[in-house]
Amino acid sequence: MSRGLRLRPAAALAIGGLIAAPFALGQEPSGPPAKDTIFARKILMGAIDMNMDAIETMLAPNGKLDAAEAQEHADTISIMLMSFPHMFAVGTNQWQPGADRDPATDTYASPEVWANFADFYRRASTASKLAQDASNTKRLDEFRRLVGQLRAACNGCHEKYMKTN
Ligand code: HEC
Repeated sequence: MSRGLRLRPAAALAIGGLIAAPFALGQEPSGPPAKDTIFARKILMGAIDMNMDAIETMLAPNGKLDAAEAQEHADTISIMLMSFPHMFAVGTNQWQPGADRDPATDTYASPEVWANFADFYRRASTASKLAQDASNTKRLDEFRRLVGQLRAACNGCHEKYMKTN
């Protein structure tokens, strides 16, 4: 074994100590404040909701469908759902049972998100893809079907990963 290799573990330990320090203080090592990230993802979800509402209003029995506009909304939803799961840094896992919550600024994301992140991520990607397919289809019946599946994907994810109080 060369002397260079023998020195490595000590160097690694020193670096580990530097990186561990911020955690010891209960902070994220870097990145924006958790409350800003939580606010941003809530606003993003709110915007997804407005776009979805616009589509569903157009598809309702008395709705007036503008296909180009509906598909633009679907495209926007697709992009936003792709971005959404990237806003779940560990420090933003802040929901606590029985806590006093401000619905405008506090998170309703369940700790289950972090316990099953791969599933959460897959659901976001699947929903994003459904919205993308809806934005591209040339057929109205297909558009309706995909929007229905997208709505089911919203509800399925909320059931598992969003707290209601
Ligand atoms: C991959 C999971 C997932 C999918 C898919 C998803 N959501 Fe959400 N949604 C969440 C989570 C988690 C929250 C809670 C975020 C928080 O409070 O930090 C949320 C919050 C919301 C909120 C409340 C926003 C606020 O102001 O606090 C609305 C409204 C909403 N979602 C609508 C939708 C709609 C409509 C769709 C489908 C087009 C959708 N969501 C798809 C996980 C998802």
